[in-house]
Amino acid sequence: MNGTFQGLVLVSICGLASFMKAAVYTRYGPPEVLEIKDVAKPAPRDNEVLVRVHAATVCAADWRLRKAEPFFIRFLNGLWVPKKARILGMEFAGTVEAVGKAVTRFGEGDPVFGSTGFRFGAHAEYLCVPEDAGIAIKPVNMTFEEAAAVLFGGVTALHFLRKAGVQTGQRVLVYGASGSVGIFAIQLAKHFGAHVTGVCSTANLDLVKSLGADEVVDYTREDFARAGRVYDIVCDTVGKSGFARSLKCLKRGGSYVRIGGSGGMLSILAGMLRSQWISVTGAAKVISGMAKAAEGDLAFLKGLIEAGTLRTVIDRRYSLEEIAQAHRYAEAGHKKGHVVIRVAATI
Ligand SMILES: NC(=O)c1ccc[n+]([C@@H]2O[C@H](COP(=O)([O-])OP(=O)(O)OC[C@H]3O[C@@H](n4cnc5c(N)ncnc54)[C@H](OP(=O)(O)O)[C@@H]3O)[C@@H](O)[C@H]2O)c1
Repeated sequence: MNGTFQGLVLVSICGLASFMKAAVYTRYGPPEVLEIKDVAKPAPRDNEVLVRVHAATVCAADWRLRKAEPFFIRFLNGLWVPKKARILGMEFAGTVEAVGKAVTRFGEGDPVFGSTGFRFGAHAEYLCVPEDAGIAIKPVNMTFEEAAAVLFGGVTALHFLRKAGVQTGQRVLVYGASGSVGIFAIQLAKHFGAHVTGVCSTANLDLVKSLGADEVVDYTREDFARAGRVYDIVCDTVGKSGFARSLKCLKRGGSYVRIGGSGGMLSILAGMLRSQWISVTGAAKVISGMAKAAEGDLAFLKGLIEAGTLRTVIDRRYSLEEIAQAHRYAEAGHKKGHVVIRVAATI
């Protein structure tokens, strides 16, 4: 085959299908299972928006799905190998590249942010999202990187604070105040009029105060349950506050919100049984489960951001090629706010 003919073959193949770069995994395991590959660029269905992704994040759901922890996560994505989601990434911000013929809310060139939920797929140059499922115009006062780092933590914190019925004047303790859920739990609880105490390590005390916490407790030096304070709501974002300590400082009948879980299957099951028992005795209302975006959540969070009431925190930034490093750092469990993936070189 001469050079001209080879060139013609390549041009015609590329004309038939277009490709994009994505971080793909085909087996569960350590960060090294993630590979940058050329995969088919998705095409929007009638109700979908094709987004050119500028930025995404690596959140807890990404590394948990990558390593299949806890084990039952395999029932969501394939028992032996990942099947449904092979491209991770739940949060994104980018520009609308094209829209399906039934789309009315978005047009080419719109700057957007969103969350794919359990469809994942944001660790890629392009993704398709239904126009009515987790996508909105980007807040005007945020960069793409900032806007990508809002919805996983923001929607989760909002869901659980609402479930706990947070009210003006209540005392709320946020345990794990410096993580991606914690930073939004602090700010949203303040927005709802609560008196907020944040629990974090020494290095994060100033950050948590800057987010509006009225009081901070350094968990490396002080036991939050021994400080003599009593709360209406204890909101544990990382699953490490412990039942006994949390109940000790909770008003009788108060809400113990368990957003994050730590430990293996047995400790998760034990936690579920204990939660049931505590709720039955009336000592506390234990709130857990999966966060779900309610209609209007994106608009609500965007409104608070544009009003200057809500901000995000970015700890580290990585390129798509550095995805394994980003996973390793996020999985270590000590990030401040978010780890952002810069997908497009233009930002
Ligand atoms: N139920 C749901 O629907 C739902 C939704 C979203 C997330 N989650 C779960 O919620 C958990 C948290 O998510 P995330 O994104 O906020 O995690 P993250 O960003 O990784 O949280 C990291 C933060 O946790 C803090 N931390 C670590 N160990 C701590 C300890 N012993 N005491 C207090 N703080 C500690 C770290 O602060 P230091 O460095 O100061 O220790 C760090 O700032 C994850 O397990 C995730 O799977 C559940």
